[in-house]
Amino acid sequence: MNSLYARHRSVLPDWLALYYREPIEITHGEGRHVWDAEGRRYLDFFGGILTTMTAHALPEVTKAVAEQAGRIVHSSTLYLNRPMVELAERIATLSGIPDARVFFTTSGTEANDTALLLATAYRGSNQILAMRNSYHGRSFSTVGVTGNRSWSPTGLSPLQTLYVHGAVRGRGPFAGLSDERFTEAAVADLEDLLGHTHRTAALIAEPIQGVGGFTSPPDGLYAAFRRVLDRHGVLWISDEVQTGWGRTGEHFWGWQAHGQAGPPDLLTFAKGIGNGMSIGGVVARAEIMNCLDANSISTFGGSPVTMAAGLANLGYLLDHDLQGNARRVGGLLIERLRAAAAGVDLVREVRGRGLMIGIELADPVTGAAAPEAASAVLEKARENGLLIGKGGGHDTSSLRVAPPLSLTVAEAEEGAAVLEQALRSL
Ligand SMILES: Cc1ncc(COP(=O)(O)O)c(C=O)c1O
Repeated sequence: MNSLYARHRSVLPDWLALYYREPIEITHGEGRHVWDAEGRRYLDFFGGILTTMTAHALPEVTKAVAEQAGRIVHSSTLYLNRPMVELAERIATLSGIPDARVFFTTSGTEANDTALLLATAYRGSNQILAMRNSYHGRSFSTVGVTGNRSWSPTGLSPLQTLYVHGAVRGRGPFAGLSDERFTEAAVADLEDLLGHTHRTAALIAEPIQGVGGFTSPPDGLYAAFRRVLDRHGVLWISDEVQTGWGRTGEHFWGWQAHGQAGPPDLLTFAKGIGNGMSIGGVVARAEIMNCLDANSISTFGGSPVTMAAGLANLGYLLDHDLQGNARRVGGLLIERLRAAAAGVDLVREVRGRGLMIGIELADPVTGAAAPEAASAVLEKARENGLLIGKGGGHDTSSLRVAPPLSLTVAEAEEGAAVLEQALRSL
């Protein structure tokens, strides 16, 4: 065991998961590459969990951070903060939510926690609907709406949560149905559930489940859900922590794959917007955002340095049409990965959109999840210079591919070749 790993193990919690038999220390990065402490270079197809959105060490972001740090690092929400107002204005416009208000946090967990606070206060109910196989964060409230046992360490919760069908297309009781029948069955289940419950505050859902292994429902399912929710006055929270900012290629937000629904009542974001600086946040219509009748502050939320980074990063993303790049290069990458997976018996499905691609591994005969195979591919890819991620509600048996959105065609080809070799080595 290398010494940093031993020190990590002796001072940090056991439940802080690390990748790889021999965990690596990443010391620096540039573009779509990172280097470890032993000087090995890797093509980065995971971006520190979908967070390096544009590129590593992007000069525009680095400069904005350094310049802001040279002026002032911290002031708190008690004082006017120009970069915070400017980023809020841009996100409010981009959100599609009418009369939008934005509140900044320091993580996705805290963003979802705030959304849950708003929805429950607005509706006067602590009953929440969440999707099976979901992940919404690590705090007491968010593990209580996380429908994935591996990531939800307690059954205690300030919320009463009911888990809904529909987010996992390829498994579960409705898996064999056509898209249309699948959606009908999930909607009927939701209707039935709401008929048996007290007043419900909100449904929280990831348009594409991240930690769950990049699984998603048929397009339009959340629009169909919305019609039912509206009839019951139930709010819709779209957790865009992984799916926001154009990562899915076709859309800027994941909810837009269910566009007939119109924008959600609340939208949460984090990860990519700060390119690694800690920014999270929630967007909601003014009447929902302003429903709280007590003061609030955030010491660190919206801090000037993170906001300057967010503005520079978002500006770069939009100016360089990285959503379009995610669509084009992601389209090519998924094609290459489908070809690479053809003939590998353990590959059950290659799925996703844009630069958010999942490869599920399972026993070809029984359909049982194959977590050891997923770990083996992860290791093999690293040995050959490629970092990817893992996920999935079924014993972590899906590989997750989510490079920075500036990925080039040559890098996509290179990464696909490494993955092909790793899959074929199974
Ligand atoms: C969909 C989703 N929501 C919320 C979170 C929590 O974000 P954070 O780790 O920044 O607290 C995550 C993190 O992976 C996520 O994937």
